[in-house]
Amino acid sequence: MNRQQFLKNAILAYPALTSGLAYANIHPSQVPFNAIEDETFWKLVRSQFPLTKDITYLNNGTMGVSPYSVIDAVYQKSVTINTKGAYGGGDHETIEAIARFVGADKEEIAFTHNVTEGNNLVAQGLPLQKGDEVIMTTHEHVGGGLPWLNRARHDGIVIKVINLAATAAETIANIEKAITKKTKVFALPHIPCTIGQVLPAKQIAALAKSKGIYSFFDGAHGPGMLNLDLHDIDCDFYSSCCHKWMLGPKGTGFLYVKKEKLEALKPIMVGAYSDTGWDMLSNPPTMSGYTPSAHRFYYGTQSAELYEGIQAAIKFHETIGKQVIEDRIKYLAGYLRDGLKTLGTNIELVTPEEPSSRGAITAFRLKNMTMQKFQEQAVKENFTIRTVPENNVNVIRISTHLYNQKDEIDKFVDLVKRTV
Ligand SMILES: Cc1ncc(COP(=O)(O)O)c(C=O)c1O
Repeated sequence: MNRQQFLKNAILAYPALTSGLAYANIHPSQVPFNAIEDETFWKLVRSQFPLTKDITYLNNGTMGVSPYSVIDAVYQKSVTINTKGAYGGGDHETIEAIARFVGADKEEIAFTHNVTEGNNLVAQGLPLQKGDEVIMTTHEHVGGGLPWLNRARHDGIVIKVINLAATAAETIANIEKAITKKTKVFALPHIPCTIGQVLPAKQIAALAKSKGIYSFFDGAHGPGMLNLDLHDIDCDFYSSCCHKWMLGPKGTGFLYVKKEKLEALKPIMVGAYSDTGWDMLSNPPTMSGYTPSAHRFYYGTQSAELYEGIQAAIKFHETIGKQVIEDRIKYLAGYLRDGLKTLGTNIELVTPEEPSSRGAITAFRLKNMTMQKFQEQAVKENFTIRTVPENNVNVIRISTHLYNQKDEIDKFVDLVKRTV
C-alpha cells in the first residue's frame, strides 16, 4: 500500500471509530426477566459486535471477539494518552474491576499479558525442590504444560498426570489416587482447552487444603464463561486472560494470588511498582521489600488503553449479568449437544454428560471421518472451529458464546449432518 492509499484508508477508518461506531450500549433495563430463551434480546446483543456475518464463529475458546464498546474504549483512551502525553502506569480501577468480576480482593490481582504468563509466574515462583511432585492432567494446553515441564527441567520436580473421568467424583478420585507424600501442587486446568469439561474446582481446592498442597488452576476459560467466585472456590492461585470469554482486548490477563499465599510465591520478575523501596547508593545497594499486594508480580509501563478495554468488557458482562450469560451460553451448548445427538451413532460426544461438568465448550469425534477432513469442509463453508490434536485427544471443539445465535448452531448441525 502506498502512502496515499494508506492515508485514504486511515481517513475512512477513523471517522468510523470516532463516530460512536454506530452502536448503542445495552441498558440493564433491556435485559428481559427470562432472558435465556429470548432470541430477540440475543439478537440485540449480537448487534453489539462488529463480527462479520460472513462467517460462523464458533471458536471463542481460542479467542473472544470484542463488542464495539471495548474497541471504542481502547481507541478513546489511546487518543487521550497520545494527545496529552499521559503515562499509562498501573491502573487501580481496572484491578478493582477484575477483582469484583472474579470474586477476589484487589490486593490479590496482578496484571499479566495472557494465561501462559500467569502459569509461568506460579510454576517458577513456588518453593519446590528436586523430587517434589505436581499433579496435572493429560489435557493440558501448551501454555499450561510447558511452564511446569520447564520447571522440571530446571529443578528436577516430577510431573504426574491424571486422566479426566466422565464425572466430577471420579476425577477427584483420580487426583486422590495420584497423591503421595511428595505431592506439593495441583496444577490443573479449571476447564481444559481440549474438551471443555468443567472440573470441580471447589472440591479440588478443598482436597488440596486438607493435605497441605498448593492448589493452582489454569483458568483460561473460567471468567466470562462461568459466574466465577474465586473466594468461594478458595484455591491458592488462578491464572486467566481477558481475551477469551471476557471478550476483552487481546494480550491481557491476570493472576489471582490468595492473600494468605502472597509470601509463598517468589516474584521472579520485578521492577517499578513491585517494591517498597530501593537504594543503589547504600552500601551494599538494597531493596527494602515487595509491595504488600499482588502488584509485586507486575511492573513497569503498562497499557492504559488495553486496561480501559478490560473495564469496558467487564461493564458489558455486568450489564447483561454474569449469571444470565453463564445460563445462556450453557443453554446454547446444550442446544448444540441435543442437535448432534439427533445425528445418530457416527457422533461420539466427548464432553461429559454430567451437567455440572459442562460449560460452553462441546467436543466430539466423528467415527467415519478424520477431524482434519471435517475441518476442511467447515472452512469451505465459512465456519471457524477448532480441532484439538493436543495430547492425542483428537476432537472437534465448538465454543458457543453470547454473540452466537441459535440459527448458527442449526447451520453447524446441518453441516455435520451433510458431511458425515
Ligand atoms: C487451558 C488453556 N491454558 C492456557 C492457554 C494459553 O492462553 P494464552 O494464549 O492467553 O497464554 C489456553 C489458550 O487457549 C488454554 O486454553
